[in-house]
Amino acid sequence: MDQITFHYDTVLSDVHMLLPNARHLMTHLNHVGQPVFITKFKILSDPERNDDSESKKDGEKDRNVFQGKDGEEGGNGNLEPFLDEDGDLNITHRPRKTPTEGSSRDMACPIILKQSSTELELEDENTKEEADECFKDIIRIEHTMATPLEDVGKQVWRGAFLLADFILSEPVMFRGATVLELGAGTGLTSIVMATVAKTVYCTDVGDDLLSMSKRNVTLNRHMMEPAGGEVRVRQLDWLKNDLCTDADVDFSWTEEEVADIYDNTSFIIAADVCYDDDLTDGLFRTLYRLCSNFTHTCTIFISLEKRMNFTLRHMDISCEAYDHFSQCLSQIQDLVDGRCSFSVEKLPCNFAQFFLYERIEHLELWKVTATPLPSVQIRSDAELRPS
Ligand SMILES: C[S@@+](CC[C@H](N)C(=O)[O-])C[C@H]1O[C@@H](n2cnc3c(N)ncnc32)[C@H](O)[C@@H]1O
Repeated sequence: MDQITFHYDTVLSDVHMLLPNARHLMTHLNHVGQPVFITKFKILSDPERNDDSESKKDGEKDRNVFQGKDGEEGGNGNLEPFLDEDGDLNITHRPRKTPTEGSSRDMACPIILKQSSTELELEDENTKEEADECFKDIIRIEHTMATPLEDVGKQVWRGAFLLADFILSEPVMFRGATVLELGAGTGLTSIVMATVAKTVYCTDVGDDLLSMSKRNVTLNRHMMEPAGGEVRVRQLDWLKNDLCTDADVDFSWTEEEVADIYDNTSFIIAADVCYDDDLTDGLFRTLYRLCSNFTHTCTIFISLEKRMNFTLRHMDISCEAYDHFSQCLSQIQDLVDGRCSFSVEKLPCNFAQFFLYERIEHLELWKVTATPLPSVQIRSDAELRPS
């Protein structure tokens, strides 16, 4: 295998970075040659969450969280302080298993288990019954690690967990709903949403990413089937004005689905999608175009992580992407177009934590409520109204 090189714009999600005990077993290479992994994310049961909140009182929990990767039992509450008094990382390594202790592998580097295939090979790993039995509370997510910026959707980001926690904390709100997720990435939040909602349109851009989301939906269908929820993976590009209904194009929309979106979407969700000003503008234009064509109220939940950087321009730490997001929120709130009014609210992030990740203070959840004004005309065609 060629040496894996990390380019200057390579980014790695903290979700995948904080896996000190995990074995990184690559399952295959995707179509653009990136190593693909499967991580198991456990949804914590009530007692597990209670234990968690106890440890949180000690201020320890948020810094020490693990998931299971590729067969590891994750979330073992290995709660030892990560930081010394100066704030430096201070990691105590758990003794590795020897080959005779149940695993023949003890490796630090990824290895290839199998090469990429266009088929859903992963389905063969378990029969459906086995999956139901073994993975009842476990979401298995296929993802890559350390991608260039244009492929960040192939990793799982903390915002996805924050939104997923919120959904699982408010199941009654979302029960039976039609939901649209924008910038869904691997599809984790859509999958969680489909454990309560009726139809979830899991949208993003790029066939490679959308294929990955689709495989993740297939890997986790046992989680959605009991509630009758369904995830449909579709292409929705914030930088384009329409929903593609060309049946020859992968991940395109049917006319019925477009009508369903306009008639029935009560929630739009988006996790960690505001990191580039042009894309944030595109996202807000899309939200406006959609909501101003709805004849019903729609509630939008946006989670994000404020990533602080030192900039020479400010001679201080700042988060320019967050500042731009705040401006977009203000603009949409002040908008007077006679079609729709938007109200904006920052929600407290004090709801239960169903996933193990660092719920850092820079994680935020915003609620935007779009209410149509009486004069709104219904448009049921595939066109999103240009701004
Ligand atoms: C940081 S990732 C977040 C992925 C996922 N929501 C999560 O939190 O794990 C940002 C997502 O926005 C998507 N995105 C970027 N540009 C987009 C566009 N023009 N239209 C739709 N989605 C876009 C990316 O493909 C990516 O999936």
